[in-house]
Amino acid sequence: MTVITEIADLQALAKARVPRQFYDYIDTGSWTQSTYRDNEAALQRQKLRQRVAINVENRNLASEMVGERVTMPVALAPVGLTGMVHADGEILAAQAAEDFGIPYTLTTMSVCSIEDVAKHTTKPFWFQLYVMRDREFGEALMARARAAGCSALVLTLDLQMIGQRHRDLKNGLSTPPKITPRFIFEMMIKPRWCMKMLGTKRHSFGNIVGHVKGVDNFVSLSEWTKAQFDQSLDWSAIDWVRAHWDRKLIIKGINDVEDARIAAGMGADAIVVSNHGGRQLDGAVAAYDMLGAIVDAVGDKVEIHFDSGIRSGQDVLKALAMGAQGTFIGRAYAYGLGAMGRAGVTRALEVIHAELDTTLGLCGETDVRSLGRHNLVMAEGA
Ligand code: GLV
Repeated sequence: MTVITEIADLQALAKARVPRQFYDYIDTGSWTQSTYRDNEAALQRQKLRQRVAINVENRNLASEMVGERVTMPVALAPVGLTGMVHADGEILAAQAAEDFGIPYTLTTMSVCSIEDVAKHTTKPFWFQLYVMRDREFGEALMARARAAGCSALVLTLDLQMIGQRHRDLKNGLSTPPKITPRFIFEMMIKPRWCMKMLGTKRHSFGNIVGHVKGVDNFVSLSEWTKAQFDQSLDWSAIDWVRAHWDRKLIIKGINDVEDARIAAGMGADAIVVSNHGGRQLDGAVAAYDMLGAIVDAVGDKVEIHFDSGIRSGQDVLKALAMGAQGTFIGRAYAYGLGAMGRAGVTRALEVIHAELDTTLGLCGETDVRSLGRHNLVMAEGA
């Protein structure tokens, strides 16, 4: 048995255990994947200041994200099809997050429904909304999230159209999976995934199937988004959301200073600097490379969160030092889920927590809330 010491170990296990089309869906970027790769590379390019002979005996990683206490400033990001990475994946990930004391964000494109996740958890989770052409459906989703006790809505703005991910098309990705000879072979070589999946009834998009007329089964994400997502979405969508959602609002998918200024003026509780993990605009600037400028422009007006590229506690620390108040991880926990279900998500969180904790001390700091640019080796003129 591999000793799990880093997220890459969970990734390797997930690759071995999850059927190819669902593993590939997680581990992909759009087109050439240049932005996907650069998100990670940008974090690696950032160097930290090594400080010594400072008493770092008592350290604190706890903080707040949109006023909610978190045991570390790392939330689980919305990840489509989580319930295909592992049976009942959304429920298991939400439970692991709850135990750890960090927020879980359920995506619109989940397998387990909002109600199902609420039934199997005890604390409020966050709900991520995509704006569809059918506004009534969106309103119903917000009402359902409200009734389920969700404390924050994460509104995604960077996916009016889906960036092409070659492997999803080549693999014929769909939920539930089509029973092709290739898929039957995958089931045979991945019996663990298969047995668990046979033991659950949750096999399709739980928030959609049965809630939208004409959607019964076999939905491909790319076809669904093409047909349903609102390409005419503009900033007036925020007013629409505000009219139907009176709890915390987080705007996700900001990777430009001008957009950050507009979003900050909208009275959101937080914005997430993100390029959707390099899954949308291929060629977009790495999210970490935008973070500093966005913090400088609007950090005094709105809370800033960060995602896209985080694979370690060191990455979390860099984002916090650059000025983010909180971070999100997507692939890092999805690999854990694919590797070992709920225990794998917990392991991913433990790995990141331990890395963040030790790195904090090695930077000569004792509290995540005191991190700042003084911890970063900044480029000339930055
Ligand atoms: C959508 O949520 C995606 O990035 O696949």
